[in-house]
Amino acid sequence: MSDNLSNIFFNGGKNPIYDFANLLKTGFQNPEGITGSVKVHIPEHPDQSFIARYSDELHIEPCEALQETDTLVSIPMATMERIATDFEFLDWRDPEIIGTITFEGNLNLANHLAKSCQRPTDVTTALFQRVGKLHREKGYSNLTEVERLNCPTQMQVLERIEAGCPTIITGLEPSSSSGNWSLDKLAERYGVAVVRVRSATQRQTMREFVEELQAFEQNPYEEMVEGFVKPYTEGASLPEAMWADFGPLFFDREDFTPPQLWLGSVPTNIPTSSLHRDPQTGFLLQVMGQKRLDLYSADQEALLYPHKAYNNYQPCWFKPEVPDYGLYPEAEKAKCISVTLNPGELLLQPAGWFHQVYALDSPNMSVSYFWRY
Ligand SMILES: [Fe+2]
Repeated sequence: MSDNLSNIFFNGGKNPIYDFANLLKTGFQNPEGITGSVKVHIPEHPDQSFIARYSDELHIEPCEALQETDTLVSIPMATMERIATDFEFLDWRDPEIIGTITFEGNLNLANHLAKSCQRPTDVTTALFQRVGKLHREKGYSNLTEVERLNCPTQMQVLERIEAGCPTIITGLEPSSSSGNWSLDKLAERYGVAVVRVRSATQRQTMREFVEELQAFEQNPYEEMVEGFVKPYTEGASLPEAMWADFGPLFFDREDFTPPQLWLGSVPTNIPTSSLHRDPQTGFLLQVMGQKRLDLYSADQEALLYPHKAYNNYQPCWFKPEVPDYGLYPEAEKAKCISVTLNPGELLLQPAGWFHQVYALDSPNMSVSYFWRY
């Protein structure tokens, strides 16, 4: 079978199917040796449907009629066009994208392919290179502790961002209810605010979410069956009503991306966010319980096996919580700084630091936002 895309797809001019297949092929990585095949079906052009076959690289093959595959993905032409042009910003969770695609069979393979379509902007690539150089010059891989700064000024915060130096900010002005937060207090104060939207018809208010969480707390995680939805808001938009108490500090609201809420109960031995890095300076405000972050400086990039294809954040193949040094031998040399964040503390994390996050207890609540500059 030929895998030269020009032999498979019409490419005289613009063909989004060709562009899409090319993104899949050039962004594909498979360090874990996953095997399988995915049929990509285009309802408007069934004759241009194709098969993506997993190997060390991805083989794109024309699709024979009735050929069986492990996974079938049907993508309308309009969505394919959007993916083929918007790969730098594409978010698969966008209902306008995910809501138009149908899947059958092994979803793991489809998931893996979806990631191969993403690409960083030139700005992000240049930023990560610059930050890597800065961290090397500053020797950040040898840092053993993150400094705590009590009541810093805006200027001090800017200096830390400039130096790319993570910092825990303490002594924050307590928010209006004295900073001593509990689930009951959240339910009482923001009862009707919507904190979780799971579909067009499933919206949960703070009061409903807290009730679910309190009921859940009676049953330990071990008793849960596979496939249940964990009571965790996973970075949902912070409701407007909560901005005053937990909204961005030190700069104006417009200087930040919309805050995200991380509230609920999660297992303490599985990261709430697996190893990745962000191209913007992040702030993480701890509200209830403790979180631990393991930070790796950007100059250790080659030791952590970051994905080649990514866009708004860069995940790593290496998973420190289940380290496989056979597959990722360089990772044994990686050094991290562990930071424990207590309620009322704010972690300033300049762009480019690799990190993974654990909730150390439950219920746990944090609010995060990114500085736009
Ligand atoms: Fe992050």
